Amino acid sequence: MNNRTIRIAPSILSADFGALEREIAAVLDGGADLIHCDVMDGHFVPNLTFGPLVVEAVKKCSRVPLDVHLMMTNPSKYISRFAEAGADTIIVHAEIDEPLDQLIALIRDSGARAGVTVNPDKPVDLFLPYLDAIDQVLIMTVYAGFGGQEFMADAVPKVRAVYDAAVAAGKTLDIEVDGGINGETAAVCAENGANIFVAGNFVFGSSDYAGRIRSVREGARRGAAHLAGR
Ligand code: DX5
Ligand code: ZN
Repeated sequence: MNNRTIRIAPSILSADFGALEREIAAVLDGGADLIHCDVMDGHFVPNLTFGPLVVEAVKKCSRVPLDVHLMMTNPSKYISRFAEAGADTIIVHAEIDEPLDQLIALIRDSGARAGVTVNPDKPVDLFLPYLDAIDQVLIMTVYAGFGGQEFMADAVPKVRAVYDAAVAAGKTLDIEVDGGINGETAAVCAENGANIFVAGNFVFGSSDYAGRIRSVREGARRGAAHLAGR
């Protein structure tokens, strides 16, 4: 599993929505590999963000794949609409009541890559039985809902558990981390098996997007080198 590509995914949650096209152009110029879109329904999480219309607008000005993180109680109703809007990977939460196997099937039928995640207080056992059908696992390193929170180191063993499970199954799996990611926390996560790094506040909260993206990438590379040398 050591040959997976490291990817940096700025989360537009912390971008200036009045200048989204310019913000996206700036992170793409700065080396972003993916754009992470945080969809919040005001029910699964208290916060409310945007839906397929905004994802479609992002798609129009983005030449890299879109990672769409659905923080929703009932994503099944909207999966096909997000896929039509241009989502390349659709990530659902495994702790909701909708059956995960059906959600994964809906995502795959829509033509998108299937991603699964859980909040920090929920076990990865909720999705590990479906690993075969999953393209990407997202380990939340903060509670879903808001940008700019502090990284929770307690979540790191879950990165390792998913990495080990994928290795044991002989499966190449993208493992993404989301929440409080900077150069240092990216290194810790990469050392434990993560290869995709979402960064919202760290990138958009700075005036040097390229420098911040580079710093996350350098941290991730350092961590990945440790993992490879294990
Ligand atoms: C939290 C979102 C994250 C968030 C990360 O609910 O899933 O994607 O934007 O933001 P930072 O990097 O600011 O912690
Ligand atoms: Zn997210």
